[in-house]
Amino acid sequence: MNAMKICEGVYWVGAIDWNLRNFHGYETEKGSTYNAYLILDEKITLIDTVKEGFGAEMLSRISSVVDPAKIDIIVSNHAEPDHSGCLPLLHSVAPQAKIYTAAGAGIKDLSAYYGDPGYIGVKAGESLSIGKRTLSFVPTPMVHWPDNMVTFMTPDNILFSNDAFGQHYASDERTDTECDLPEAYIQARKYYANIVQPYGMQTGKALAACAGLPIQTICPSHGIVWTKHIPEIVKLYQSWAAGEQEDSAAIVFDTMWHSTEAMAHAIENAFLACGIKPRLYNLHYCHNSDIVADAMSAKYIAVGSPTLNNNMMPSVASFLTYFKGLTGNKKKSIAFGSFGWGGQSPDQVQDALAACKCEPLLPAIRIAYKPSKEQLDKITQDVVAALQKN
Ligand code: FEO
Repeated sequence: MNAMKICEGVYWVGAIDWNLRNFHGYETEKGSTYNAYLILDEKITLIDTVKEGFGAEMLSRISSVVDPAKIDIIVSNHAEPDHSGCLPLLHSVAPQAKIYTAAGAGIKDLSAYYGDPGYIGVKAGESLSIGKRTLSFVPTPMVHWPDNMVTFMTPDNILFSNDAFGQHYASDERTDTECDLPEAYIQARKYYANIVQPYGMQTGKALAACAGLPIQTICPSHGIVWTKHIPEIVKLYQSWAAGEQEDSAAIVFDTMWHSTEAMAHAIENAFLACGIKPRLYNLHYCHNSDIVADAMSAKYIAVGSPTLNNNMMPSVASFLTYFKGLTGNKKKSIAFGSFGWGGQSPDQVQDALAACKCEPLLPAIRIAYKPSKEQLDKITQDVVAALQKN
């Protein structure tokens, strides 16, 4: 397998994971790539490595342009094993290579995984000459781990951004001018929603720290390289990091005998009547990670569950647990559900939504057994009234 040239002296030497379908609960239907970048200068430098199991592919790509044993410098922008997993392999091939990582958290995290062969910690504003080029290090803590940093290289003006601006998107095309661009944006949004979203404030700081850099190329650690559409992807990140919302609603539910589903449609009618764009997600068919991507910019979320053995349905509990971990902005919420007896689930959903920074629009809506047309109309009216009050 060959390296892919990004520009003169800079090569992509990562790995393509066509088969990845799950990343910690995030459905990666398009696979992913683990991006490592090789720089041929007086000091041969590698930015990040790849996930364990993909080392042979990375070494093969490096070998297509240079003997991997000649690597002088490895920069580890992030210790998560999808980028550091082959660090020990690389270091065994090039034991003289010096490994640079974020002072403090980078050294701590890499040491926890692989021991400490003598990492060199770098701080904000520090730079390293590798010949004609200079690497400058910018810590970006909690985007999305404590150790994260990005590396800016002059005079090529390349930002090695690690997870930021990444996408779980396997392809043989390497840049935004070659790939299916709409797909890259979809996957970038899904990546942000499922990985970075809880750290919007830190992302905003990282964007500010990089704002003055004359970036010509963004080389993330997953997916395609941004060359032409940098203003667009940066603008999207600014919007996501700021938690910007639109007049839309995500209506998420499971249903046993279609009663909670009918309630979901009554709520849908209320949003439509108020000029708010609703979208329905039956958890029987929709994946948590797709829902959080769509819901990220929604001002409203409605979650419904029938009561099953005194509880909300496990699918709804799973969604709410996933959503809680990724909550990025405050939303107005509606809890609803049908029941036969007991009827605990709507209040359980209401409590769970409150734990997700959501503010209830109205008390939880409960209907016994099967809602009548009158009851459904009343739900629509009540929700319209609550929306008009807010
Ligand atoms: Fe792609 Fe946080 O690792």
